[in-house]
Amino acid sequence: MALWSGRFKGSADELTQEFGASLPIDRALYRQDIAGSRAHASMLAKQGIISRRDMRDILGGLDGIERDIESGEFHWDIADEDIHMAIESELIRRIGEAGKRLHTARSRNDQVATDLRLATKALSRQLMEANLALRRVLLESAERAGSQVMPGYTHLQHAQPVLLSHHLLAYSWMLTRDFKRLSAAFDAADASPLGSAALAGTTYPINREMTAASLGFSRVTENSLDAVSNRDFLLDLEYACAVMSMHLSRLAEEFVAWSSSEFGFITLSDAYSTGSSIMPQKKNPDFAELVRGKTGRVFGNLVALLVVMKGLPLAYDKDMQEDKAGALDTAETLTGCLAVMSGMIETMTVNGDAMRSACETGFLAATDVADYLVRKGMPFREAHAVVGELVLACEKRCCRLEELSLTDLQRICPLFEDDIAGALDIDSVVRARTTCGGTAPEAVAVQLERARACIAED
Ligand code: ARG
Repeated sequence: MALWSGRFKGSADELTQEFGASLPIDRALYRQDIAGSRAHASMLAKQGIISRRDMRDILGGLDGIERDIESGEFHWDIADEDIHMAIESELIRRIGEAGKRLHTARSRNDQVATDLRLATKALSRQLMEANLALRRVLLESAERAGSQVMPGYTHLQHAQPVLLSHHLLAYSWMLTRDFKRLSAAFDAADASPLGSAALAGTTYPINREMTAASLGFSRVTENSLDAVSNRDFLLDLEYACAVMSMHLSRLAEEFVAWSSSEFGFITLSDAYSTGSSIMPQKKNPDFAELVRGKTGRVFGNLVALLVVMKGLPLAYDKDMQEDKAGALDTAETLTGCLAVMSGMIETMTVNGDAMRSACETGFLAATDVADYLVRKGMPFREAHAVVGELVLACEKRCCRLEELSLTDLQRICPLFEDDIAGALDIDSVVRARTTCGGTAPEAVAVQLERARACIAED
């Protein structure tokens, strides 16, 4: 019999029992649920609402239940509907009368909100750790990359040469912002709804600050209706994860491209590649592809919860039970993606020669040749047009800019002199971009320092 069955004559049929249950999913929250019950029972006793003896029995009973869940001996029964009733009914079975007093001044509505906020805090912490680990790996590989150059792209066309370290650090800044979003989700969840009861508060002289403090919340929620029907903190977590997933997906996409024979920029280690069941030669970047692919589910989970919440009147509605599967899945997925990306980067080989020789095609120094003419007094727009002509001439002859002779250059523009060679050299092109945030080695060194400081602060 369900704990709420007092006013019912019939019992639920098997189909609705299973359809209505959240137990298969929310049993993952047993630790939070038990912690909430411990805090609640201790507060009830402190306030004289239950006896100290009842409290001791409840705490003892909860300890045993937690042990049994952890050792796999706990008997889960779908008829209990959710984690809250599974634990409470087992507690009553084990300790009788005292167990029946635990739910005084409490509802499953503030209980589930408490569990979820505790879980959100733990999950955002876990994700912040994984985020930091990946940032450390990116930083180390940026350091290892030294003065390695590669083509920088816009529209996936060769644009200007950049340092590989600069490219890798771009992702570390995305992840630095993701960390802030995770930390904002942590803060949003960090208020205790316990004591809001079903929707309106309670008639018992409870102490909400006490339960909040013992559960590690930094504050209590201000409005009982809002407290039991708010899932913003879960949306914040899912949004932070969705953006981070998008960032990882972009990096994964680059690794897929870079490991192809067309690019050949990196070789993924065997541990982060798979073979083909039919083509013996294949080495596929499956794990990068999966990181990219899982983004779909993560976005879907965020949108699903937004849609679940959008039409709900205050306060609690059962629709909200649909909140957990997606949020837990997203957090687990992202934890996995972050770890896999860390391992992939740590173990991949950078093919420096391929990166450097890719810089030879696509006229990567074109902007610098225009800048050269500007230094000789020509307005930039004119210089742009002159270099455009040079590029056309090169395309016609199938040669690179540096293969044009000084006479060829001077025929198109008399401002060219011997010193043009300096403007055409790829390393000089990179070295020239010394502006803050630019790709010159000295600017990247400053960036590395800043990125290191951010990791130390986070
Ligand atoms: N299993 C429910 C959920 O996940 C817990 C809260 C149920 N409250 C209620 N009044 N039915 O949302």
